[in-house]
Amino acid sequence: MQHETAEILAAIQAGDTPASDFAHLKLPDSYRAVTVHADEAEMFAGLASRDKDPRRSLHVEDVATPELGPGEAIVAVMASAINYNSVWTSIFEPVSTFSFLKRYGKVSELTRRHDLPYHVIGSDLAGVVLRTGPGVNKWKAGDEVVAHCLSVELEDAEGHDDTMLDPQQRIWGFETNFGGLAHLALVKANQLMPKPAHLTWEEAASPGLVNSTAYRQLVSKNGAAMKQGDVVLIWGASGGLGSYATQMALNGGAIPVCVVSSPDKAEICRAMGAELIIDRAAEGYRFWKNEDEQDPREWQRFGSKIRELTGGEDPDIVFEHPGRETFGASVYVAKRGGQIVTCASTSGFIHSYDNRYLWMNLKRIIGSHFANYREAWEANRLIDKGMIHPTLSKSYALEETGQAAYDVHKNLHQGKVGVLCLAPEEGLGVRDAAKRERLLPAINRFRNV
Ligand SMILES: NC(=O)c1ccc[n+]([C@@H]2O[C@H](COP(=O)([O-])OP(=O)(O)OC[C@H]3O[C@@H](n4cnc5c(N)ncnc54)[C@H](OP(=O)(O)O)[C@@H]3O)[C@@H](O)[C@H]2O)c1
Repeated sequence: MQHETAEILAAIQAGDTPASDFAHLKLPDSYRAVTVHADEAEMFAGLASRDKDPRRSLHVEDVATPELGPGEAIVAVMASAINYNSVWTSIFEPVSTFSFLKRYGKVSELTRRHDLPYHVIGSDLAGVVLRTGPGVNKWKAGDEVVAHCLSVELEDAEGHDDTMLDPQQRIWGFETNFGGLAHLALVKANQLMPKPAHLTWEEAASPGLVNSTAYRQLVSKNGAAMKQGDVVLIWGASGGLGSYATQMALNGGAIPVCVVSSPDKAEICRAMGAELIIDRAAEGYRFWKNEDEQDPREWQRFGSKIRELTGGEDPDIVFEHPGRETFGASVYVAKRGGQIVTCASTSGFIHSYDNRYLWMNLKRIIGSHFANYREAWEANRLIDKGMIHPTLSKSYALEETGQAAYDVHKNLHQGKVGVLCLAPEEGLGVRDAAKRERLLPAINRFRNV
């Protein structure tokens, strides 16, 4: 660790360093970061997705500290988290993220900084602001923050009602450089939000991306606008997105039907308060007979299981993200007039379904992606209020990020997997111990499961 970085860490660890001291700390010329390399984008050519190993493509190395621009902030990152987008980047699927960086680099003189032969990845962080650029007034050096991952330019009218509709909308640390899996990160200042004081660095860093995404997808009027009493079918209910969707359904008076693939995962859903759970592995659903053909009888069998659990009701909302493998079933089981809201296609992005069930039963498919500024802020507020809790199961050191991404790629994890960046150990950064004490059992639900 560079001398300057060690001084930054010491100032954060002290806990009572005045803001003015943070503003005077020298920034290092380079910092430790998790990267992929443009000249390795073809390294997995010819391999099946499952055989592409993030441990080979993710590097931990020193990179140059970027110049700070107007409206931006440089943050000392104490902790970050693995998102599935880190997996996509590391296996160069569906496209290499260097194509995103190249395109972003063409927007302006300032964005050209992002177009580099390496990509510092990561779309979550908890840490401390070190520097702010011209035009930033709300945030200052020394502020303890988390960052959401919406990067927008907002120069076009299209995004002025809903910032996700900005034509220059990007996911920071995926479609931009200088992400959160590093000792320092460069963000736009309007990505910053207050760090919940009752959480450790790694807990605070873990909800960001998935919590905001689940909030728009399920709760926001831009998504399914869930209401009390809705039956919500949640795929991957103990995974990154699903663990937040399950909490939101319970929190909002809805009735989650949680789909998982093992008794352990079912147990976690029970611990969150869910009662209706389907173990898809135990039930042995085979929605596809072969590569080309789905099996409507399996959709029916799945639908019957849902009705058995709900007392005969079909889902008002299907919370979709597995994609190809499940989408036909999701459209089939949704209630007449119900909604299938999708934000991803983990198992394949060309979906097929029987459209008769959609149109004759007046169902709707809604596309959803991350969250706008407001939604991300509202989602973080729920964490801060202790109404939704982090679902962190395990944390890795920055040097072990490849293994952390491997676990998520292989679906070996539960909830969220954290990464300690500057934080030398877990458990640091709590500023409101009394509030934490009250919420501890809920905060720890996913720990070491
Ligand atoms: N658009 C956005 O803004 C956005 C934001 C976040 C994530 N995403 C995407 O959403 C997807 C999920 O992200 P995540 O963070 O929730 O990942 P995750 O932590 O891996 O959880 C996904 C869960 O889905 C279930 N699943 C996986 N493959 C499945 C299949 N073929 N059939 C049924 N269930 C399956 C698994 O649960 P069980 O094995 O227990 O069933 C898994 O735990 C990823 O593709 C990610 O890139 C998109």
